[in-house]
Amino acid sequence: MPTLDIDDRSVTVPEGTRLVQAIRGAGIEIGHRCGGKARCTTCRVEVHAGGSAMMTRAEFVKLRGAGLLGEVRLSCQMRVEDDMRLSVLMTKASEGWPDTGPVPADVVEPEAEWLDPDVLARQTPPA
Ligand code: FES
Repeated sequence: MPTLDIDDRSVTVPEGTRLVQAIRGAGIEIGHRCGGKARCTTCRVEVHAGGSAMMTRAEFVKLRGAGLLGEVRLSCQMRVEDDMRLSVLMTKASEGWPDTGPVPADVVEPEAEWLDPDVLARQTPPA
């Protein structure tokens, strides 16, 4: 099972676990203000090592539109496939939210297909 080093915590999760759920499961109050649907970017993480570079179209479009492409990843759009080291960037405490948002589903939404970001850039013209 892959190991996640999340800031000062380390957890082991089954391969294929939705990353935002793995982070929640580690007891970290990460934001997921849109409920894990690639609309808010509050589930953003900085990936230091590991993880696939492949992205869902929803993640690509959202990050590019927010000017965050290449800076952060959306944990609601990633599955844990290997060992990773990452930092959580927006939490209930850091942002002063009353809660973290609607609980995301265990599967990636919207229905996901992971593609090379270069392919997505060619297929998805900027809005
Ligand atoms: S973009 Fe909103 S929870 Fe991931």
